[in-house]
Amino acid sequence: MATVTPEAPAEIGVIPSFDVTIRVRRFNPEVSEEATWQDFHVTMFGTDRVLDALHKIKWEHDGSLTFRRSCAHGVCGSDAMRINGRNRLACKTLIKDLNLNEPITVEPIKGLEVEKDLVVDMNPFYQAYRDIKPFLIAGDKPERERLQSAEQRERFDDTTKCILCAACTTSCPVFWTDGQYFGPAAIVNAHRFIFDSRDEAAEVRLDILNDKEGVWRCRTTFNCTEACPRGIQVTRAVAEVKQAILRGRA
Ligand code: SF4
Ligand code: F3S
Ligand code: FES
Repeated sequence: MATVTPEAPAEIGVIPSFDVTIRVRRFNPEVSEEATWQDFHVTMFGTDRVLDALHKIKWEHDGSLTFRRSCAHGVCGSDAMRINGRNRLACKTLIKDLNLNEPITVEPIKGLEVEKDLVVDMNPFYQAYRDIKPFLIAGDKPERERLQSAEQRERFDDTTKCILCAACTTSCPVFWTDGQYFGPAAIVNAHRFIFDSRDEAAEVRLDILNDKEGVWRCRTTFNCTEACPRGIQVTRAVAEVKQAILRGRA
């Protein structure tokens, strides 16, 4: 019978750590009109996310570092930023999964005006969202709840998952060019109601998106789908809205 030699047990109580450089795009309009890069050297652990590094920098190195966050668990959508050149949520990006031999770059999302450091003006993004009427529009007050089959609910399930983080819209090259394009996030949220069997204003929303700044600006680049932290098939939703304009809601 073979004998098994047990491996030496891991040292109990020691959590492995590593040193990493976080390179942050800093901007303070009260100090300079130019944005600059600033390096911070921090010791982090395997379970830490980029958001934890930003907190560490803010709490231990420079309290003026400015960024948005709230839930820290991928739900509120407030901490979308460009990490190593890709739009991601800082609270869902494990540092250990990035290349630790190079500085990790952290910048604000593109296409929206930077207010300070990693904080951008989200108003144009929210305005596009408001413009597509992101609420149920139905006529008469019903006698009872509006019934919907499982298949009808499934039709728009994917687009209900949006957390309005703006990672998709601010990764879209069309949006970068002039910022007038409604952007994929607004279209995703229009899709959520256009294909809801209980809603009666699909034509209104399709008319809004059949605009020169609407769905026809999309060039099927797929950046939006790659950026979405909720795994929503964003490009497919945009394509389905285009189809609905041409052929009606299926
Ligand atoms: Fe964020 Fe995805 Fe919604 Fe775009 S579709 S705003 S990437 S959750
Ligand atoms: Fe932009 Fe996505 Fe279309 S990145 S071009 S909205 S496929
Ligand atoms: Fe809420 Fe990241 S802090 S999604």
